[in-house]
Amino acid sequence: MKRSKRFEVLDKRDVNQDGYINEWPEKGFIAMNSPLDPKPSIKVSNGIITTMDGIERKDFDFIDQFIADYAINSDITEQMMAIDSLDIARRLVDIHIKREEIIQIVSGLTPAKICEVVGHLNVVEMMMAMQKMRARKSPANQAHITNLKDNPVQIAADAAEGALRGFAEEETTVAVARYAPFNAIALLIGAQVGRRGVLTQCAVEEAIELDLGIRGLTTYAETISVYGTESVFVDGDDTPYSKAFLASAYASRGLKMRFTSGTGSEVLMGNAESKSMLYLETRCILVTKGAGVQGLQNGSVSCIGIPASVPSGIRAVLAENLIAAMLDLEVASSNDQSFTHSDQRRTARTMMQFLPGTDFIFSGYSGTPNYDNMFAGANFDAEDFDDYNVLQRDLMVDGGLRPVKEEEVIKTRRKAAKALQGVFLELGLPTITDEEVEAAAYAHGSKDMPDRDILADLAAIDDMMNRGITGLDIVKALYNSSHEDVAKSVLNMLKQRISGNYLHTSAILDDSFNVISAVNHKNDYMGPGTGYRIPEKRWQEIKDIPHIINLDDL
Ligand code: 5AD
Ligand code: CA
Repeated sequence: MKRSKRFEVLDKRDVNQDGYINEWPEKGFIAMNSPLDPKPSIKVSNGIITTMDGIERKDFDFIDQFIADYAINSDITEQMMAIDSLDIARRLVDIHIKREEIIQIVSGLTPAKICEVVGHLNVVEMMMAMQKMRARKSPANQAHITNLKDNPVQIAADAAEGALRGFAEEETTVAVARYAPFNAIALLIGAQVGRRGVLTQCAVEEAIELDLGIRGLTTYAETISVYGTESVFVDGDDTPYSKAFLASAYASRGLKMRFTSGTGSEVLMGNAESKSMLYLETRCILVTKGAGVQGLQNGSVSCIGIPASVPSGIRAVLAENLIAAMLDLEVASSNDQSFTHSDQRRTARTMMQFLPGTDFIFSGYSGTPNYDNMFAGANFDAEDFDDYNVLQRDLMVDGGLRPVKEEEVIKTRRKAAKALQGVFLELGLPTITDEEVEAAAYAHGSKDMPDRDILADLAAIDDMMNRGITGLDIVKALYNSSHEDVAKSVLNMLKQRISGNYLHTSAILDDSFNVISAVNHKNDYMGPGTGYRIPEKRWQEIKDIPHIINLDDL
């Protein structure tokens, strides 16, 4: 066939480098409302749920049982299930209906019913609902801070810059697993240099992650994964009960934590049991609720390529974030993995959470260039900082970030690198040279950093862990290396573990270590003039982008 020049051009567009697939319900390749999904139903006798979504108790799998026993309010479920789904959907977008009223209704709904409710909403309605249902009044943001070389000096500098740019939480992970403790320490210190009160975590294998938390080398945890089918759960040697047990291990040491789940994971692991992605994800969200965990990182997360490949998939991703909020959970709403070659498409996907605001719009905005992102690249990266700042300014939306001055960034990065240098010296860890400090102050990514002696670092990490180094040793080392202010900040982060206030839903800390959560800073949106409105001071900050025509120069 003779090719149309128009089609030849279109075929080469970024959007056509992405993968698309038609709906295939038997294999779970369907975003929501599958013809094979269970239909909503409930039966209760003597306070026990005996039938849920057409399944009798004797046929429950362990997820059904966990949800029926711990996640659904059996006292009111029959009453709430009797409300028409369309009616509930309308209440979600009705500004005259309070958030609390919706929370009460949803506490009595089954997974199939919840899916039926959100199935009535288009994305604008879902955003309206999210604006009301988000737990914390003001939105916030989370960063990924990693690099290809696991260079701790760069992690400290990037953490400091990220904190300065406004991230309320920062997470790292590893290229080489054994580096985890260094990455955690570098992140902890760097974040406090950038902005006091920023929470940090290190996403690694669960036992190590818990150990880092208990030692006080991290201040929260997030990647405790739950899944929507029994077979996938069992594949990971886990159950809802084992995850709930892990959650209580964190709680017992006063550490903030949330679970992680998201559409597409069951399809990826080949066991979707012929259910839609959103139906399975709704089960995950209810498992989280049932475990008594305060929040959830969801929105497909690392599996975004799967829902993004089917019709209405990006809508389903917003729907899953919304369902988490409807269940009164903190929601860290993903946007944390690249899924498309198209800039338009990745921006549109992020607008779903950016416009209404969520507790964490990104549960991983890459604070590094894409090549340094060890979570496989976020939807927005360090190169996009100015685009993001302009989006906030154009639309007068608080996306949790702020423009910064180059001199201020260099100074802060240097200070973080120097603080880590001091700690390494005090703790007898391999030297951080002045050359490394200077490189980190000016670096864009790990290509700009000198190589370290990896074997020496890894041996020192093993030794440090054997010596039982904790957060308090970091505080002492900071103090003894003349970084008293940073020492105080890290100590203040450790104190949170004792007061426990930051275990409340959607908790973050301000720069005086005050907790801002869904308890003392509750979302009270009920239409225009209510809820979060950008305060004047914050608006001045958002407006102050770097590349601006100076009126005095005209
Ligand atoms: N479901 C469950 N867990 C997920 N993670 C990422 N995506 C999902 C998902 N869709 C978790 C995994 C991974 C970490 C980055 O987040 O534990 O290791
Ligand atoms: Ca994250």
